[in-house]
Amino acid sequence: MNLSLLIVISSLCCPVFSDIYLHNPRGSNNRLNEKSATRANTNRVFDSQNNQRGGYNVGDSGSTPFTTESDQYQMKYFQSGANSLSVLNIEWTDQHGCGSDDQDHSSKQNCALVLQYMCQSRDQDDNNLDRIRDGLNTNSQQFTQMVQDTFDQNSQRKQTDVKMDRALHEPWQYYDNCYYRQRNMGLFTADQVLNKNNKGYGSAVHTRQNPNGARSGYECPEERDYFPYWHPSPWKDIAILTSDYGMCDYYQAESFNQKSKFLCIQFYDDNRQKHWSKWNNKNECEQNGGKWTEFFNYLEKATQYRDEKSCNSKPNQKWALAYDAKSINEKECLVILAKPECHKAEWTRSNHLGNTLDGKAPSYNWILPHFSSNKAQKCVFRIRYNISTDDYEPTLDSKSNGIKSPIKTNPQVNMGESSNQVLKLAVNTAQYGRVFQDRSHSFILLPRPAQISGAKIYNLNVRGKRGNIVQVYPGVEYDFVPNDLSVKTNELVHVQWTGSNTHNNAQPAGDGQAGADGQGQEGTDRNNFVQIFSLNDNYPVPIEKADIWKDVEAVDFLDESVKIKSSEGEDLALYLASSGYYKCLKKENCEEDYSKKRKLDENLNNGPASCPGVLIKFKKANKVYYYMSTRNNNFSNRSQKGTIRVVN
Ligand SMILES: *[C@@H]1O[C@H](CO)[C@@H](O)[C@H](O)[C@H]1NC(C)=O
Ligand SMILES: *[C@@H]1O[C@H](CO)[C@@H](O)[C@H](O)[C@H]1NC(C)=O
Ligand SMILES: *[C@@H]1O[C@H](CO)[C@@H](O)[C@H](O)[C@H]1NC(C)=O
Repeated sequence: MNLSLLIVISSLCCPVFSDIYLHNPRGSNNRLNEKSATRANTNRVFDSQNNQRGGYNVGDSGSTPFTTESDQYQMKYFQSGANSLSVLNIEWTDQHGCGSDDQDHSSKQNCALVLQYMCQSRDQDDNNLDRIRDGLNTNSQQFTQMVQDTFDQNSQRKQTDVKMDRALHEPWQYYDNCYYRQRNMGLFTADQVLNKNNKGYGSAVHTRQNPNGARSGYECPEERDYFPYWHPSPWKDIAILTSDYGMCDYYQAESFNQKSKFLCIQFYDDNRQKHWSKWNNKNECEQNGGKWTEFFNYLEKATQYRDEKSCNSKPNQKWALAYDAKSINEKECLVILAKPECHKAEWTRSNHLGNTLDGKAPSYNWILPHFSSNKAQKCVFRIRYNISTDDYEPTLDSKSNGIKSPIKTNPQVNMGESSNQVLKLAVNTAQYGRVFQDRSHSFILLPRPAQISGAKIYNLNVRGKRGNIVQVYPGVEYDFVPNDLSVKTNELVHVQWTGSNTHNNAQPAGDGQAGADGQGQEGTDRNNFVQIFSLNDNYPVPIEKADIWKDVEAVDFLDESVKIKSSEGEDLALYLASSGYYKCLKKENCEEDYSKKRKLDENLNNGPASCPGVLIKFKKANKVYYYMSTRNNNFSNRSQKGTIRVVN
C-alpha cells in the first residue's frame, strides 16, 4: 500500500463512535442499583447509545441498599430566588470530543450538546401513574399495542402497562402518541429500511438511528434524535452548546421554550378527546376531521389565576393551552420559560474521555429555575451529545434517501485504476451522524426559606464512584464538584453528596475491568468533609484547630432529622465529618442523645451513603480553605480534595 492510499483511507474513514457520560449530577446511563460493572437494561428509561459500563447507581439514604422508594436519596438543590441565583455545576465527558482538532479549525467533528430538564410538582399522589420516579427494579415500563381504539380500552391499556415500581420520566400517553403518529417523512434516513407500527405505517418511533423502533422507557425516538423538535414534549431547554455558533439564533427561536408546537387532535364518536392521532401535519389532520392544535411549554402552572385577564397581567405569564392539558378547551395560566442559552461548545479532545484544554472535564453552570409558586419540584436532567462529520451536509432530507444516499452501509471503495484494489469502509448509516444521551436520576428543587431569599447559592457536591480508574471507566473516581470554588461572604454554599451501597462493579464487566478498589465496606460509596491545612496534606486538622469551623455559620440544615437547638461551627464540623451520622458535637446543642448511638465506623461504613448537607455562609473574606474526604483520599493512589476561596 502506498502513502497516498493511506491518506485517502484515513480521510474517508471516521466512523462516529462516541459516548456521553454525566458526572454531576450523577448520570444513570440507565443504571439503577446493579452490583455489576455493566448496566442490566440498556433501554430502562431512555436510549443512551452509550457503552454498557458508564453511569452511577441511584443514591441510598442510609447505610444499606434501598428496598423502598423512601430509602432512595434524591439530591436537593435550592431553586433560584426571584432575584438571586442558585448555581449547579453540570459536569460531563463526551468521549469523541467536540469542535475542531487542528490549528486551522477544520471541524473533524461537528457537535452540539443539548441540556434540558423536566419537572413536576413534588406533591404528586403516590399512585399517580405519571409521577416521575427512579423505580425499584431495572425493568423498563411496559407497552402493549392498541387493539381496539376506544377511550376505555386505551385507559385500560395504560393502567396495565404502567408499573409503579419501575422508573418513569416521560408519561405513557406521550409514548403512545409517538408510537401512533406518522413519522416525519421529510427526514434523511440514508439507506436504512425503517420498520412499521402495528397499524402498518412508519411512525415517530422509527428513525434512521432507531430503524426497528426499539423502545426505551417512554422516550419518543424521533424527539430524541432531533432538536429542535417540531411537536410538543415535556422537556424544557436549558442551553445548547455547539461547535457552530451560527446556529444559535435558529436553536433559540425554534426552542419549545419560546415557540408553540402543534399536534393533531381527534375525537371519538362520543366527542371525547383522543390522546393520539396518525396525522403529523395540518392538511392531513384537517382532512381527517382533526383539529390542528397549538400547544405551549411552561415552567409551571400558576393555578391561582383562573382567567385570561388576571393571568396576562403578569409579564411572565400567558393564558394558553399547555402541552399536557386535560382537554383542548382548557387553557390555563402558564409561567413562561426563558430563552435557552446558546454558545460555542468548549473544545474537547477526541478519544480521550473528552477533557478540555486545561485538562478539566467540560462543565456548564446551570442557573436553576425559580418557581414562583414556592412549590418543591421533582425533576430530571438530560444531556444529549449530537455528533456528525463533514461526509454529508447535515441539511440532507428525504430526497437523498435509499439509493440516492451519499453514505451507504459498509461501502466498498476502489482505490484507483492503477491498483484496482477494493477496500471496505466501516460505515453504519444508522450511526453516521449520531445522538448520545445521559440523564440524571430524579432530584428535588426546593423553594428557598424566606431568610435566604436573596443570596446566591453554590452547590458543592461529589462526583464519581468507588474503584480505580480502569474499574470505574468510563465513570470517574471520586472528586468534589466544583473542586475549586470562589465565594463571597454574602453568598452561600450548599454542601451535599449522594452515594450508593451497591457500587460493587462486579462481573459482568463488559469490555472493561470488574472490581471496586477502595476503603471501607465493599460496594459502598461514602464521603465526608474535613479541613486540611494545605492541598499537600493528607491528614485532617483536628476540629478545635480548624479555622473553617470558626469562620462559617450554618444557615439551614436540609436534613429534616437534624434537631439542633443552636448550631455552632463545631457541631457542623462533626456533622460533615460523619456524613450526617452525628448531628452535633456539644451535648447542650443536641436534642438527640448521641451517647446512646452506636459509634461511627472509622471508614464511615455504618454512616449514611448520602448527606443532605447544610447551607453555609463564610464570615471572613480573603481566606482560602482546603478540605478532603478521609475515606477516599488514599494519597498514594487517589485524592479527593477541594478548595474554597472566600473573596471580596
Ligand atoms: C443532530 O444533528 C442533526 C444534523 O445537524 C440534526 O438534524 C438533528 O436534529 C440533531 N439532533 C439533536 C438531538 O440535536
Ligand atoms: C490505600 O489503598 C490500598 C489499596 O487499595 C490499601 O491496601 C491501603 O490499606 C489503603 N490505605 C488506607 C489508609 O486505607
Ligand atoms: C494503589 O492502587 C492499586 C490498584 O487499585 C493497588 O493495587 C495498590 O495497592 C494501591 N497502592 C497503595 C499504596 O495504596
